[in-house]
Amino acid sequence: MWKKILLILGSLLLAVVVLGGAGIAWLFLRKPAMAPASSIKVSMAPERIARGKYVFTSVANCGGCHSQRDFTRVGGPEVESGRGRGTVLSDILKGLPGQVVAPNITPEPETGIGTWTDGEKIRAIREGVDKDGRALFPMMPYQLYRRLSDDDVQALVAFLDSLPPVHNPLPRTKLIFPVSVLIKSAPQPVGSVAPVDRTDRKKFGEYLVTVGVCGDCHTPVDDKHNPLPGKLLAGGMLFDTTFGKVVSANITPDTDTGTGKWSEEFFQKKFYDYKEYATNGPPPLPGPQDFTLMPWLNFSQREPEELSAIYAYLRTLPAVHNPVDTHPGFPKKPAVP
Ligand code: HEC
Ligand code: HEC
Repeated sequence: MWKKILLILGSLLLAVVVLGGAGIAWLFLRKPAMAPASSIKVSMAPERIARGKYVFTSVANCGGCHSQRDFTRVGGPEVESGRGRGTVLSDILKGLPGQVVAPNITPEPETGIGTWTDGEKIRAIREGVDKDGRALFPMMPYQLYRRLSDDDVQALVAFLDSLPPVHNPLPRTKLIFPVSVLIKSAPQPVGSVAPVDRTDRKKFGEYLVTVGVCGDCHTPVDDKHNPLPGKLLAGGMLFDTTFGKVVSANITPDTDTGTGKWSEEFFQKKFYDYKEYATNGPPPLPGPQDFTLMPWLNFSQREPEELSAIYAYLRTLPAVHNPVDTHPGFPKKPAVP
């Protein structure tokens, strides 16, 4: 009898060890979903590079993470000579799950992505795997950039190819377990993406809010990084950085705690107030009460029709009552408008 039970227990244990081990091995060895990179060579026509620069700076704000930035100045402008040279994000932003590095994406062959094909660059941006098929940490917002149209992503790569190569060796991203294995389910092949219909303001606005990555900063998340239900773009996410703390604003149309009272004119002015700083360089940051991660400088260069479309889309969102103090510990600025 005992022998029998021991035998059953033994085989059960063995099954657990074998299956469990296999499960863990599977998690580690599993490859992310991916398709072969396309063999495209993007057009380097001047107007394509110019469009790509616009997508890099304003539409998708790539430089927010991948460029050298000067956070001693208002708005943390990109440093022109360090555009795309990469940043160790976890040295600046607290609370990331390990060492997180936005790599050097200039066409430098040793420390940048100079040896990557254009197809591999497009795949990384929209599908989330690197040249060797490794899953990228989705703080690189490829789950949103998958919406970038073929036209826009090709222009973007033309701009990347045109950047002056910068030699800037950086460490690699090293995530803690289990984040390191869980992220393997994030990459997805995308295929071909048609351009959005710009004449449909709300649809165009939804596209711009998606690829502008507004949600990654303005939609609060739980401790597993899942968006909180019913809180779309309601703000309240804390960014604790070496330059100061800032909390994202509620941009839903709630009249008390969001942007409900804002006219479209006022909304546009909020962005265009930074235009002068974006062109001529911003003044030094007066203090941590004015520190922000909101990409005001880059977004101030957006076309008026784009801001108008974003405004129109934001008006369609459910108004969420969520009072936010963007600079905790400092006196509140007078409420506007
Ligand atoms: C919020 C920060 C953030 C933004 C915005 C961002 N990236 Fe990234 N990007 C990252 C991080 C972090 C990684 C590395 C992830 C990893 O190593 O797992 C990365 C990786 C990459 C890679 C792969 C490079 C390599 O050597 O593996 C490319 C290419 C890239 N990004 C291009 C872009 C482009 C183009 C944009 C704009 C459309 C952009 N990124 C916007 C954070 C960002
Ligand atoms: C990197 C994070 C980040 C991204 C990306 C981002 N925001 Fe913000 N945003 C913030 C933070 C933090 C604040 C609060 C501090 C401030 O006003 O500068 C803010 C403030 C704002 C405000 C001012 C609200 C008020 O009550 O004064 C508006 C409007 C806004 N964001 C719209 C957007 C839109 C639209 C997008 C996408 C196109 C976006 N933001 C993308 C971080 C971000």
